[in-house]
Amino acid sequence: MRALIIGCGYVGTALAEQLLQRGVEVHAVRRQAVELAPPSLAAARWWTVDITQRDAVRQLQGKWDAVINCVSSSRGGVEVYRQVFLEAAGHLREIFTVAPPVLYVHLSSTSVYGQTDGQWVTEDSPTEPANETARILVATEHQWREAAAGGMPVAILRLAGIYGPGRCYWLNQFLAGQARLDESSGRFLNMIHREDVVQAILAVLDHAGRAAGRVYNVADDGPVTARELFGWLAQQLGRPLPPEMSGEVAVPRKRALTNKRVSNARLKAELGWRPRYPTYREGFLPEIQRLQREGGWES
Ligand SMILES: NC(=O)c1ccc[n+]([C@@H]2O[C@H](COP(=O)([O-])OP(=O)(O)OC[C@H]3O[C@@H](n4cnc5c(N)ncnc54)[C@H](OP(=O)(O)O)[C@@H]3O)[C@@H](O)[C@H]2O)c1
Repeated sequence: MRALIIGCGYVGTALAEQLLQRGVEVHAVRRQAVELAPPSLAAARWWTVDITQRDAVRQLQGKWDAVINCVSSSRGGVEVYRQVFLEAAGHLREIFTVAPPVLYVHLSSTSVYGQTDGQWVTEDSPTEPANETARILVATEHQWREAAAGGMPVAILRLAGIYGPGRCYWLNQFLAGQARLDESSGRFLNMIHREDVVQAILAVLDHAGRAAGRVYNVADDGPVTARELFGWLAQQLGRPLPPEMSGEVAVPRKRALTNKRVSNARLKAELGWRPRYPTYREGFLPEIQRLQREGGWES
């Protein structure tokens, strides 16, 4: 089996490791040249391609069993989103509709759901977000749905906020003393451990026939409010709760906040996926223990 991972960053690297362990021939794309690949990826073949460049993307045409697009915005703004997701989808479609892989996996985001009333959302819920970056993700998904309708085997995974080894945003905010409680702290956060993202990708690859043309949410079992999360962290770490801010917004925000609970029922029912880290509690503990072992903070 030959797999092409486009965007071999936080998720792509963990996926590549799993695929290599399965004996898959892994090709990994990054935008910048890789000077020193991690030892665990020594067997991968590296490509340097900027997928926003149509001519460069043509190099990727070939006979692939699986193509997984894990490219992110690298924390860029609206213009980066437009180039990296929407325009690049056009370039990628051009080559992969000519020579389709067995399955093309597009990683999207649960930010496509703009709901603000805390309701549960499924893959059939409306995707009408208020902010522009999320609208670009919706338009990008639309491109891939069109490709699927035209016969290309495409699966779309909508990922919740990813955390895991070395990347634990809320824990880091808490430890750095930058966390705040305010009127938005009662909204739900939806999260997913990186390992469970990788297992979801493997599940769609293992059930390519079933997953083609489908959209799946990838979130854990326990949407949680920031207030509850910080309460748990305060208890675990023996520290006070973050300060309460009222009136003005505690932290300047670049986006409108959503409030929804993302259901993972379809992924479980159709592909048998189960999260190894069902809630942030199981997922954060190993990271807390790791930081404690490494003397990552003063208690
Ligand atoms: N992080 C989250 O909480 C979250 C939530 C929902 C969905 N997602 C989605 O999940 C996927 C994986 O995210 P991640 O956290 O693993 O991302 P990441 O760590 O930021 O890695 C992104 C990778 O994409 C590559 N890349 C960026 N622009 C590129 C371009 N123009 N051409 C080629 N490669 C390019 C980067 O290469 P270089 O390192 O060489 O620049 C990097 O290897 C992404 O699709 C992201 O949108 C993430």
